[in-house]
Amino acid sequence: MSSRDQAPSQPRPRSREKAQAPGADRPIGVFDSGIGGLTVVRALMERLPYENIVYFGDTARVPYGVKSVETIAHFTSQIAQFLLEKDVKLLVIACNTMAAVAAQEVKDLSPVPVLDVIDAGAVSARGGKKIGVIGTPTTINSNAYARAIHDYAPDSRIHSQACALFVPLVEEGWLDHEVTRLTAQDYLRPLMAEHIDTLVLGCTHYPLLKPLLRQVVGDDVALVDSAEAMAEQVAAVLAEKHLANPSHAQPRYDFYVTDVPLRFQTIGERFLGRTLNNVHVVQW
Ligand code: DGL
Repeated sequence: MSSRDQAPSQPRPRSREKAQAPGADRPIGVFDSGIGGLTVVRALMERLPYENIVYFGDTARVPYGVKSVETIAHFTSQIAQFLLEKDVKLLVIACNTMAAVAAQEVKDLSPVPVLDVIDAGAVSARGGKKIGVIGTPTTINSNAYARAIHDYAPDSRIHSQACALFVPLVEEGWLDHEVTRLTAQDYLRPLMAEHIDTLVLGCTHYPLLKPLLRQVVGDDVALVDSAEAMAEQVAAVLAEKHLANPSHAQPRYDFYVTDVPLRFQTIGERFLGRTLNNVHVVQW
């Protein structure tokens, strides 16, 4: 394991609570185009075990990664408004595709802080010199990762690759399947030819492919998982703004989806690594 792979964070119980800002007991709002963002929720649950979370997954309209910028921006604003009405204290754009094309829209409409996975991933990748980025076609075409990484590491060279088939392969549960391995080898060949030292997993579904991708790229390439990086950024913002939940009671987790697809429970629990309760369907 490379030193830049993030080790799983342990829950850190806080010692004595300092005075928190009003409304610190409100939930964190997390959203994604579907259930892939549950990888971010999982990282948040592990890193911040006392925080209440409201998750929104647009399961009726997923995938976003092949839709137009205008459509994605419209859907993104709609979801952000929904979560703000749930009185969240922080918004986390867990979807790389939404972050790539609509992060500014969300920041413009939100009275609470907004964090996005692309910025979190870029911060984690900044130690790399030759950085590979993989994501959906919309994310890669937006060039958002290259811009964000260059903000933190201006001298790095970025090599990007759209991996359109990874999302359906993960949804199918083919995490260690020969078809997925061959697909990954094909997608990653151009990046490996550039001798990348870092690979950014620029889509919420990709952390589930980490073991397979590790086999394909070998041990010398650091894998940047934006879910873990995101959880660290959320912890930092909550601490800085005195917004950490002062209650240490069992937190509440609510999951809003626009459809309950076949196998939703199985796939969702795989993303989350635990039982999926409190699922509510929103009719839009
Ligand atoms: N959640 C999206 C992302 O992180 C991938 C799924 C989609 O295409 O909607 O880019």
